[in-house]
Amino acid sequence: MQLLFKKNFSLKNHNTFGVEAFARQFIEINNEEELIQLFTQQRDVVQQPILVLGGGSNVLFTKDFDGLVIRINIQGISHTISGTDVMVVAGAGVIWNDLVWYCVDRRFAGIENMALIPGTVGAAPIQNIGAYGAELQDVFVRCRAFDTQTGEICTFDKEDCRFSYRESIFKSEAKGRYIITQVTLKLSLNPTINTSYGAIGVALSKRNIQEPSIKDIAETVSSIRTDKLPDPSTIGNSGSFFKNPIITVQYLRHLQSTFPDMDFVYYPVAGEQVKIAAGWLIEQCGWKGKKVGDAGTWKNQALVLVNHKNASGMDIYNLSEQIIHDVESKFGITLEREVNII
Ligand code: EPU
Repeated sequence: MQLLFKKNFSLKNHNTFGVEAFARQFIEINNEEELIQLFTQQRDVVQQPILVLGGGSNVLFTKDFDGLVIRINIQGISHTISGTDVMVVAGAGVIWNDLVWYCVDRRFAGIENMALIPGTVGAAPIQNIGAYGAELQDVFVRCRAFDTQTGEICTFDKEDCRFSYRESIFKSEAKGRYIITQVTLKLSLNPTINTSYGAIGVALSKRNIQEPSIKDIAETVSSIRTDKLPDPSTIGNSGSFFKNPIITVQYLRHLQSTFPDMDFVYYPVAGEQVKIAAGWLIEQCGWKGKKVGDAGTWKNQALVLVNHKNASGMDIYNLSEQIIHDVESKFGITLEREVNII
């Protein structure tokens, strides 16, 4: 197998913000063998800084990447059925939404609420993707990953991944060490329909659906997302730019008494804590739908930062700094970015 490196490679089509940035070297990897070959036979090449990209849907390039970008393009989906359990195995390069529809079309239930989340299967465990009342960790069994330190393929079970809200070991302690090559999920032929997330219930009743199938759920979630979120193929974005901050109930009470006219939007989480809607906080600071040059926040969802056309990564980053500053000054809450800044 001949590994094909590209030099001074434009990443504009490899990040959903659509900002320009160049990688010193770029390679596309199609299977685990190529990955092993890269790390064993090209030692000088892998000495430089490395960035692994899937769909580029959770990264903001504020400068060129002076190193090697590895784009994971490992394809393939298979499944085995045992009783009502279905084990689904997918390559890290599979588009997440294609996996959702592979499962929905075969009535394998469990990921229908996560329809249309941008990105690839391999990126899904890194930030424990989630939407509309479901999270990857609910169905995750294990993943295979290449260990860049030992040069071996290893397996991570669910506990090993240390999942929490938009977090995992791959984003914290083990950041940059492993390259996920394959993910196994446990789905079911016996669906537990989850319409608890407000927007789904309302959208289903608008469509006059009383007993939704998993296909109804996937279609409804897709249409909610399409209405509310900009399509990255026309307006560059990477979904939620910030995480929803978690604060104590005590601090929430303090805010409610400081701003008695404001109807705070929050959800209870474990313990004496609440998750407060970052989009709402940003909107209250007057940022919803605002533009600074070609960088802005989306008109229907202030949590989504967008590239209206020619914004640079730095323009978008600077806007995010202003937003963090304003939310902090008004509410005393520091927003944390969900997107990886390069
Ligand atoms: N809201 C506002 N103004 C805004 C945006 C939101 O008032 O500009 C309010 C909404 O009215 C709603 C609440 O905030 O009451 C929550 O908004 P939404 O339902 O859009 O969800 P979110 O908390 O902003 C999270 C995820 C999304 C996921 C949705 C649906 C995070 C950081 N984001 O957004 O995930 O699709 O819930 O489950 O947890 C992503 O991670 O990229 C992403 C899009």
